[in-house]
Amino acid sequence: MSRHVVATTSEIPPGARKRVTVRGRVIGIFNINGEYFGLFDRCPHQGGSLCGGFITGLVESPEPGDYIYTRRGEILRCPWHGWEFDIRTGHSVTDPDAIRARSYPVEVAQGGEVLERHLVAETVPVSVEENYVVVDV
Ligand code: FES
Repeated sequence: MSRHVVATTSEIPPGARKRVTVRGRVIGIFNINGEYFGLFDRCPHQGGSLCGGFITGLVESPEPGDYIYTRRGEILRCPWHGWEFDIRTGHSVTDPDAIRARSYPVEVAQGGEVLERHLVAETVPVSVEENYVVVDV
C-alpha cells in the first residue's frame, strides 16, 4: 500500500466529494463534517460509477407509516439502480455483511508532514500552508 496526496482540504469542504485517480483506480474522496473517506468508484452490483451518486441519509421504518431519518450526508446511493452504501465503511445499507464497496483509508496530513514523510504528490501543487487529504491505496 502506498500513500498519495490527492487534494488540499479546501478542495473538499464538508458535504463535498472529489473523484481522483490513483494508480489507475478512480476513487471518490468524501468529506463528512470534517472526516474524510475513500470509496472505489465502482459499484459492487453491476459496476456503476458509484461516487457520482446522490448523497443522502439513512431512512428506517419501525412500523408502516412511520420513519426515522438519521445520518444525513453519510449514505451514498448508486446512480444506476439505487443501491445504498455507508460512505464511512463502504458497507451496503440493506446487506452490510455480504455487500460492500471497496473503501480506502484517508487522512489529513499537515503540509510539513507531507514533505517529511515523502508521500507521493501527483497532481497537487506543494504548499506548506494547507492541509492535505491523503489516501492509502
Ligand atoms: S450498478 Fe450500482 S446499484 Fe446497480
